Amino acid sequence: MSLFSKILKKNEPALAEQFQFTLVGIDMHSHLLPGIDDGAVDIENSIELITHLHEMGYQKLITTPHIFWDMYPNTSQIIREKEALVKQELKQRGLEIAFQAAAEYYIDEHFESLIEQEDLLTFGDRHILFELSFDEEQVNHRRAVFNLQVAGYKPILAHPERYEYWHNNFSKYEDVVDRGVSLQINTNCLTGHYGPGVRSIAERLIEADLVDFIGTDCHHLGHIGLLNQMRQSPILKKLIESGRLLNHTL
Ligand SMILES: [Fe+2]
Repeated sequence: MSLFSKILKKNEPALAEQFQFTLVGIDMHSHLLPGIDDGAVDIENSIELITHLHEMGYQKLITTPHIFWDMYPNTSQIIREKEALVKQELKQRGLEIAFQAAAEYYIDEHFESLIEQEDLLTFGDRHILFELSFDEEQVNHRRAVFNLQVAGYKPILAHPERYEYWHNNFSKYEDVVDRGVSLQINTNCLTGHYGPGVRSIAERLIEADLVDFIGTDCHHLGHIGLLNQMRQSPILKKLIESGRLLNHTL
C-alpha cells in the first residue's frame, strides 16, 4: 500500500457509509498515460493513479489523453505506444485491471480533419469523447458533431457543467442532448472542486435526467483524494444506484 493510500485510509472515519465505484465499473475519462498531456507525469505516476482507481472499485479504465492541436499535439500512434507501455507495466506488476486508451478531442480544425481521415480513437460502440472551449461558445461545434454522427460515431460531451457560458441558459444542454449527444459529468464536480456554479449545474443535469456517463477526469493524486470524498455523496450514490448510467456498457 502506498503512503498516499495509508493517509487516505487513516482519514476514512466512516467506511461503512461510503460506497465503492464497483457499480460504475468502467471509467471513461482520465489522463493516465505518462508524459503526453497535463495528466500523469511518468510511468510510476501512471501506475500509482491506476492502482488507486482499481482500489476504489473500478474494473476497467478507458483513459483519454488530450488531443488539442495547439497545446497537446498527440496522435493515434503516440497514444497507442504509451498505451502499450502502460499495459506492459501493469502486466509485469500483476495489476489486474482492464486498460484501454482513446482520447479527449478538443473541437478544432485538426479534429475536423481527423474525422475526414477516419483517424479517431473510439471506445465502446464507436463512442468519441470530445470537449469544448472553457472560455467561449465555439461556432464550429454543431458542424463537427454533425459530421461525427454522419460518419457513424457516437459523440459524448466531456464535462458540460464546466462550460460556464451555458450556465444561465439551460436549454443549451437540452439542445445538445436533443442532437443525439451524450453528456458525461465529472464525478469531482459534485465536491465543488470546480466552483459552486459548476456543482449546481451538474446537480441540475442529474435531476433533469440528462447525464449518461460519469468520469473521473483524473489527472493527479489530488483528484484521487476528491474521488474518495465523493464516496460519501448522497446525490452521486443515488445517481449510481439508479441504474441510469451507461458506463458499464462500454
Ligand atoms: Fe479531461
